[in-house]
Amino acid sequence: MLFNTYWLLFLSLLTFVQQLQGKEPIKQAHWDVKEVRVLQEYYEKINNNNFTLVKYYTNWCSHCKKLKPIFNAMSKNYTTLNIDDILPNTFFNKTFNDLPNFFEEKTVNIDYVSIECEIFGSFEICKRWPGYPVVELVPPKTETNIHIKSSNDILENDDDNADEDMPMWLRVFTKIDKMFSSLFSGSSDLDDLSFTERSLEFKGSRTEPNLKNFIKDGIVSDYERLLIDYLINNSETGNNDSELVTFYNDWISNIGNKFIAVNKIMNILKADLELKELDDDVKRDLLFQKRILSTLIDIEEQKRAIEIDEL
Ligand SMILES: *[C@@H]1O[C@H](CO)[C@@H](O)[C@H](O)[C@H]1NC(C)=O
Ligand SMILES: *[C@@H]1O[C@H](CO)[C@@H](O)[C@H](O)[C@H]1NC(C)=O
Ligand SMILES: *[C@@H]1O[C@H](CO)[C@@H](O)[C@H](O)[C@H]1NC(C)=O
Ligand SMILES: *[C@@H]1O[C@H](CO)[C@@H](O)[C@H](O)[C@H]1NC(C)=O
Ligand SMILES: *[C@@H]1O[C@H](CO)[C@@H](O)[C@H](O)[C@H]1NC(C)=O
Repeated sequence: MLFNTYWLLFLSLLTFVQQLQGKEPIKQAHWDVKEVRVLQEYYEKINNNNFTLVKYYTNWCSHCKKLKPIFNAMSKNYTTLNIDDILPNTFFNKTFNDLPNFFEEKTVNIDYVSIECEIFGSFEICKRWPGYPVVELVPPKTETNIHIKSSNDILENDDDNADEDMPMWLRVFTKIDKMFSSLFSGSSDLDDLSFTERSLEFKGSRTEPNLKNFIKDGIVSDYERLLIDYLINNSETGNNDSELVTFYNDWISNIGNKFIAVNKIMNILKADLELKELDDDVKRDLLFQKRILSTLIDIEEQKRAIEIDEL
């Protein structure tokens, strides 16, 4: 009798342990994508200290279905990156050992967020895309003093983004919907697109290696955004106590005409497209220089516009 009781106890313990073991792997395989249900969750995610990879999707689109397992897997195994492995140290064709640090830690975290645009279709965050899916990287919320030109044009474009999956009725519906919401604009205070000054849209075919490179390039691009702000700011305030600022000042004073300089850079890059001669680091640096010059040209145009206004 006693033996039987122990035996039963043992058996039920065994099934309990087996159940635990059976459940454990399922739990581990679960992904870490935050499915947005309320718009506020979206803004909380993109405006914190982590980088956020956002997937905008609809349930009927076939490219969205292909992207889903890749996105889910990345949310499990591509969440923390060491910035020393990513950030360049060559700028203006010179290598620097001591560069300003704009990130709080030596690592950056990537959060994964997905947003179903059938639910949020009437909000700007979804309305701005011509088709789905879209993948966008939103860097942590850090403001710059000046508006830095985006580096979106750096990334190559193959036309995989078309909304060929969107049924005709929905396209018509979306157009009507847009027309109506423009009549009653200002759908919500939360519907604020100011983060797009720092965000980047993924272009190209959405494979795991491509998406991983996109994240790395996006981190570099965000670092460059903050660096350009820092350089222009310190150059204007006369604070040239870092080697990089001094070098920047020399570089800019040797430029002469900024329009001609941008054209020169574009010609080098164009020749590269045909010859494939420049290595990636040189290319990146040239695009960085172009981004500074475009930003400065922008600033000068704005000043001129204000002067004309005042006349
Ligand atoms: C991440 O997950 C994907 C899909 O399961 C797999 O193909 C890839 O090898 C994984 N990468 C790493 C670094 O574990
Ligand atoms: C970078 O500098 C080297 C010499 O230090 C020079 O040969 C090369 O042409 C430069 N490259 C660019 C793109 O300016
Ligand atoms: C940022 O990412 C880390 C690591 O994934 C996570 O622990 C942390 O909660 C995230 N921060 C926020 C504000 O979500
Ligand atoms: C830019 O300059 C202002 C002072 O003019 C300073 O308060 C600010 O911290 C500077 N920003 C950066 C990014 O260096
Ligand atoms: C910094 O700039 C000032 C003028 O603004 C100049 O006199 C000084 O030599 C510069 N210092 C360095 C290290 O370039």
